[in-house]
Amino acid sequence: MNAPRTARFLSFEGGEAAGKSTQIRLLSERLRSTGLDVVELREPGGTPIGEKIRHLLKHDPDGHGMSPESELLLMNASRAELVRKVIRPALEAGRWVVSDRFFDSTTAYQGHGRGLDPLQVRAVIDIAVGPTRPDLTLYLDVDPATARQRLARRRGDQAVPDRFDEEKDAFFSRVRAGFESILATEPERIVRVDAGGDVATVADAVWRQLASRSWV
Ligand code: TMP
Repeated sequence: MNAPRTARFLSFEGGEAAGKSTQIRLLSERLRSTGLDVVELREPGGTPIGEKIRHLLKHDPDGHGMSPESELLLMNASRAELVRKVIRPALEAGRWVVSDRFFDSTTAYQGHGRGLDPLQVRAVIDIAVGPTRPDLTLYLDVDPATARQRLARRRGDQAVPDRFDEEKDAFFSRVRAGFESILATEPERIVRVDAGGDVATVADAVWRQLASRSWV
């Protein structure tokens, strides 16, 4: 019998409309087809407390005008819950975890986007996650023009824009610069995947990242 494969924690990052949820679904299906047990998650959210926080952060009219500091703390309250109630138990049970966003989103959105002090942002993230860090982060990169087109198409299909969708281009440029700086400082953990192509091409590029580490 083959030795059991080590459980891995993967996160996906990227701006709006980078195609994260589609890629996470395809990757999880493919991992399952090789016999792995996979937990798919999204942030903020993924626990009963986290889903309430998600609603407050994204859709609840009471969230409008929220201070950046509250946003930082709420994102990380949701994360603290997810790490302790779902991610650690899953990894301990040998399950793979694939998360739609994790702490890099806080660095990019609350740190760079909202302009909060990077040391304070890091301290709050540390409280939320402790030693639980992704083994690999896949940053799905699309150029802003393509993202805008996809977003416009999605808005046509779908209803209500959330509080983040309503931000201006300048905010998303800062977020993008935030991700670029994480890519530059932690190249061992976070890799760029060109997400401008069709779904199957991007899925292959994602799979190659895992295969090149002999994880699959
Ligand atoms: P999404 O599920 O559509 O990606 O929505 C989540 C939104 O929350 C998205 O606009 C990014 C934002 N976000 C942060 O600002 N900070 C964070 O730490 C996380 C996880 C998400």
